[in-house]
Amino acid sequence: MSDKAANAVERVFALLKNAENQDYIGEPISQLAHALQCGEFAAQSGASDDEVIAALLHDIGHLCAAENAAKMGGFGIDSHHRIGGDFARELGFSECVGALIEGHVEAKRYLVAKHPKYLNELSDASKETLKRQGGPMSDEELQQFESHPQFKTMLKLRTWDDRAKLIEWPGPKPLPNLESYRAMMIKNISESFQRAGARWGIAAVAALAIVAHAGNAEAYRPFEGTAATVNNRGEFGLAMGTGETFDRAGNGFILAPFIQFSFGILPRTSFNLGVRDSIPVGPMGGRRRVPTVRSALALKYLFRDGTLQGKTGLSIGGEIDALLPDVNARNWAGGCGTFIVSNRWTWGTIHLNQTAGYTRLHNFDLQTAAILEGPIRWAVRPVGELYFEQEFERVTTTAALVGALWRVAPSFVIDLGLRGIRLDAQSINEGRVAFTTQYITEARIGFSWSTQMWEPAPKVTASR
Ligand SMILES: [Fe+2]
Repeated sequence: MSDKAANAVERVFALLKNAENQDYIGEPISQLAHALQCGEFAAQSGASDDEVIAALLHDIGHLCAAENAAKMGGFGIDSHHRIGGDFARELGFSECVGALIEGHVEAKRYLVAKHPKYLNELSDASKETLKRQGGPMSDEELQQFESHPQFKTMLKLRTWDDRAKLIEWPGPKPLPNLESYRAMMIKNISESFQRAGARWGIAAVAALAIVAHAGNAEAYRPFEGTAATVNNRGEFGLAMGTGETFDRAGNGFILAPFIQFSFGILPRTSFNLGVRDSIPVGPMGGRRRVPTVRSALALKYLFRDGTLQGKTGLSIGGEIDALLPDVNARNWAGGCGTFIVSNRWTWGTIHLNQTAGYTRLHNFDLQTAAILEGPIRWAVRPVGELYFEQEFERVTTTAALVGALWRVAPSFVIDLGLRGIRLDAQSINEGRVAFTTQYITEARIGFSWSTQMWEPAPKVTASR
């Protein structure tokens, strides 16, 4: 691990040393001098190691960005704060370092909005980039920024950044060189690796113990449809149907366990893997009782933050599913795409889903789902779902679900549901199309649980 840390620090040093002769975006000093001055101002004010490193690396995004990264005219790399934050995280620096780097541009937009005089204190280059970074924050952005756990440090970093443009270092002590930060940086990376390792260990235990931990438990059970929400970055979700039973033509089936893993790896995106065993328990007319395993991989993306994300207006999401062929069943792969719109009021929440796809039996398929939930503040809230699916040339499904969600802890929700289904099947017998109607009831019970596997990504407003 220490090798990895040492290599990461070498990479950073190489970039900064390379910048010794590079001017600092329209300012009269070099990138390296700007970084060193900023780091030293942080150290002088008694900042923590995380803060000093963030100060030193806050503009690394200008230096590490890809050749073809978008530029702000002659004023460096567009989104350099985000590029730099992600770069620091990739190298293994603590999440705090990444978040502070990412926040330094937002801090400028914040200060200009809060203290109009601050604008006059900015250098011409800084004024110019401000325009391209979104200008002063709106009221909503101000509020959101203030709720960031590192908000105050981001503002402090900004002041060090603004001061770190001295043509001559005034002394009395000489400006510390890069080398003086090596041990601090290696320690920071090594410790954050250790913390990440410990987190995975704890999470493995937690998955067994089902401890309540910070998270949102947003996996959507017991519904067919889903909500316009995605996992936070670093959030792992587990949803499980501890038991579902249904009866089909006198044969009992247990659908257990339905398991869904979801991971928030990229911003605004969840990756889901759902697995479901179907175990026949009835007589099956003398046929063998072979369990089948059904699985699907999904990618869910949040297009618009809305009431489900604490903002105003509709939450809008989309999901693409790869339906993998069932194990022990004769079918193939399929796929579908879903458009999801959700809105929350004080009295309840509605989610609308429209799906179009191609089934495992290779029929076109349309699904519409409407989920209605009671008030989110209730510990136990009633829920319902109306569902309609047309698998062309095969079957039409109409279903209604009533149930309840019990939020035992913020990250742990138990679900219960009773679902009535009408199946209108279409089959071809001796060249004739025959229609049969069947009624089925299903009981659904399960839970969803989530945990933050590593520190949350900063919720800093986009400024592009
Ligand atoms: Fe800077």
